[in-house]
Amino acid sequence: MAKEDVLILAIESSCDETAAAVVKNGREVLSNVINTQIDIHTLYGGVVPEIASRKHIENINPVIEKALTDANVTLDDITAIGVTYGPGLVGALLVGVAEAKAIAFATKKPLVGVHHIEGHISANYVENPTLEPPFAALVVSGGHTHLVMVNDYGKYEIIGRTRDDAAGEAFDKVARAVGLGYPGGPKVDKLAKEGNPHAIKFPQAHVDDSPYDFSFSGIKSAVLNYINECEMKKIEINKANLVASFQNAVVEALVSRAMRLVDERKIKKLAIAGGVASNSALRAAMQEACAERNVEFYSPSPKLCTDNAVMIGSAAYYDYCNGVRHGYDLNAVPNLKLGERI
Ligand code: KG4
Ligand code: ZN
Repeated sequence: MAKEDVLILAIESSCDETAAAVVKNGREVLSNVINTQIDIHTLYGGVVPEIASRKHIENINPVIEKALTDANVTLDDITAIGVTYGPGLVGALLVGVAEAKAIAFATKKPLVGVHHIEGHISANYVENPTLEPPFAALVVSGGHTHLVMVNDYGKYEIIGRTRDDAAGEAFDKVARAVGLGYPGGPKVDKLAKEGNPHAIKFPQAHVDDSPYDFSFSGIKSAVLNYINECEMKKIEINKANLVASFQNAVVEALVSRAMRLVDERKIKKLAIAGGVASNSALRAAMQEACAERNVEFYSPSPKLCTDNAVMIGSAAYYDYCNGVRHGYDLNAVPNLKLGERI
């Protein structure tokens, strides 16, 4: 390890994954440990915040220890501690924030609080060493749908956002309605491969005066109405066609807004991020739309799309280089806005 290398120990606990990683100079993964709670929350059909917090408390120390061991480093080698402090579930976030503060205090290392969405976007830096701002980014996760311009490291301009459900939330709700279970996104993705995406026409919602904003509650309701109608008329539902058509409507809404931005601002690079960015239909459609326009397309590998600490380590590195430091009064901020620093 060269003396000037910056090693971040990163911690992520905003939802139902307890994760820790060691990242070198913002782009090199030395370790990536994720303890997922999916099995427990599946029993309840979604994330139960109280259970998530308890599981984080049980898991966080072993996860951090493994991250250090896998990276073959000790806390002495670490330059700074990065941690997600929002947005997310407050009780879940608090576990990571308290742990990071304790480690920073005990080791006298700097503490860097990271915005979860900033982390998702930064996942793109890890596997694409040449990617640098400015670029456009579409963040699509279980809690967020944002179209942003990354004007510089840590400098974000929000272009569009969802007015109601997040894209991942729509996937999860439709999956539940169809009986696929939790988490719905990957299950819809898989079943949609067997269906016809043009079998059923679902409405495309447009938000008046905000061409870049998204709305997914209309598509979700249309799916639920379709299911009810079929049940009333005793028509058998072709689930594969249904989810393929739903997925197609969501993908079209996402691609059309992203391409509008690319065309209007003559942008040359577009990245996607967040759990829904692992959706195979979205990746293929974005890839194609970007190729038609000669726009460079970036997408993290699926394991870096869903929640992980590597992305937090990458974002923390650039924040650290920009001089961001937090005190021991750092708190969890469940509704932290992108670009806002507390
Ligand atoms: O980024 P993430 O792990 O957590 C949040 O920050 O919210 O995203 C989780 C979301 C869930 O809604 C999940 O259903 C969705 O991402 N997701 C997918 C796929 N994989 C995960 N949605 C569609 N297709 C997928 N392959
Ligand atoms: Zn996330």
